[in-house]
Amino acid sequence: MNLDLEKLPSSEVCIQQVRNWISAYPEQPLAYLHTFGCQLNVADGESMAGILKQMGYGFTDDVTKASLILYNTCAVRENAEDRVFGTLGSIKKLKQENPALILCVTGCMTAQKQVTEKIRKSYRYVDIVLGSSAVSRLAQMIYAHMHGLKFAQDIETHLDIPEDLEPMRESSFKAAVPIMYGCNNFCTYCIVPYVRGRERSRQPENIISEVRNLIQDGYKEIMLLGQNVNSYGKDLEHPVSFPELLREINQIPGEYWIRFMSSHPKDASPELMDALLECEHLAKHLHLPVQSGSNEILKRMNRRYTVEKYLSQVAYIRSKHPDFSLTTDLIIGFPDESEQDFQATLDIVRKVRYDNMYSFIYSRRTGTRAALMPDNIPDSEKSQRMQRLLALQREIAVENNQRFIGRIMTVLCDGESKKRPGNMTGRSSENILVEFPGSAGMIGKFIRIKITESHNNMICGSVL
Ligand code: SAM
Ligand code: SF4
Ligand code: F3S
Repeated sequence: MNLDLEKLPSSEVCIQQVRNWISAYPEQPLAYLHTFGCQLNVADGESMAGILKQMGYGFTDDVTKASLILYNTCAVRENAEDRVFGTLGSIKKLKQENPALILCVTGCMTAQKQVTEKIRKSYRYVDIVLGSSAVSRLAQMIYAHMHGLKFAQDIETHLDIPEDLEPMRESSFKAAVPIMYGCNNFCTYCIVPYVRGRERSRQPENIISEVRNLIQDGYKEIMLLGQNVNSYGKDLEHPVSFPELLREINQIPGEYWIRFMSSHPKDASPELMDALLECEHLAKHLHLPVQSGSNEILKRMNRRYTVEKYLSQVAYIRSKHPDFSLTTDLIIGFPDESEQDFQATLDIVRKVRYDNMYSFIYSRRTGTRAALMPDNIPDSEKSQRMQRLLALQREIAVENNQRFIGRIMTVLCDGESKKRPGNMTGRSSENILVEFPGSAGMIGKFIRIKITESHNNMICGSVL
């Protein structure tokens, strides 16, 4: 059918129209939504779930019961993409059995030409492809599909920031609030700037009012999200810095914690650290991705800071709060990473003594500058380095966690322990995993715990 995707009715009209169609179905249709990737993608997934809910869809965790399946994809590493293609292959049968099933692929993978071409050629049963900045166009794409359009695609980068979305949040006490979209940094290994476009900041008043509403609704932890929150506000007509935004949010009355990620070390300022230390609602934890401990590698990664500058930031915050909790991201096996470069990475880990780390084996991403460099560290060497790094981090975490024994800590309880029935788990302000005996009534509440034991990946205690 000939339907001009540029001239579709507004999102609200499409939502209403689809709602009318759906209300005539004998049973409420169910949607199955699966998000891959980072917390920003999870937040997009919640916004799309909100749109589906407004349209009248119910939700299911059982893909075989769904009338609409949506995969919200991630492109950051090759294995993330492989998983999506594997999953798409595995549901071909469902589509054959039920041709009315609507299959959508959204998120970061779809912004890559070679991916959309592969989907069109090899996964012809996909009905809707939507780019990561086109979340608010979901309703229009579903409307177009229901109007008979065989394949609806919108993978353009949309620079406008949708403020009228009503996310369907998974948790009733933890909420993610994107404060900006896109990235300008072009770290040479990273696909994100290519698939998410340039930095766009939300207006501070919109963020503050969203956070205020969440706190009034009983949310206890708000995670502010951006690829580099430290450059928040620079693109606004009336620039506002990230520390200024944090101090404004901190004025909101209530019982809550604010967290944020990610914070690029090149722009992590003393003002940011001071805000972290001084604002009562800011969780006492900073995720400061270092990526490598070698200046040579950092330079070729285009990270635009040195090990010395990074360590001076750590020294600044630790001079005011000696065991301030820091976590990081590290990439192992970047092109030409020598044993000496890797030793420098182990060295920075020993110096900073992170409470946790997310380490990744380098994955070559087509289109990035590093993809032009030889991916020349053998896989066996990459995994051997990874094992050595993880062993060091385990050792450090065991020692670090001992500092909490005897302390009284406030923990936001988030669920029951999967390993030890009868125990609950939660996170402290430092983002340390804490386990304690308790009951389901504690979930979503701040609980005071006296810490009695420490392990490498968690600490334990009893409720006061
Ligand atoms: N914007 C955040 C920052 O700068 O810290 C990071 C966002 S990225 C989604 C999360 C992490 O994935 C990065 O910090 C990096 O360690 C890792 N990563 C990104 N591209 C990668 C690649 N090509 N191979 C391996 N790890 C990668
Ligand atoms: Fe990727 Fe670097 Fe941007 Fe983070 S700051 S999203 S690692 S390009
Ligand atoms: Fe996130 Fe993956 Fe996209 S990490 S920004 S979902 S490429």
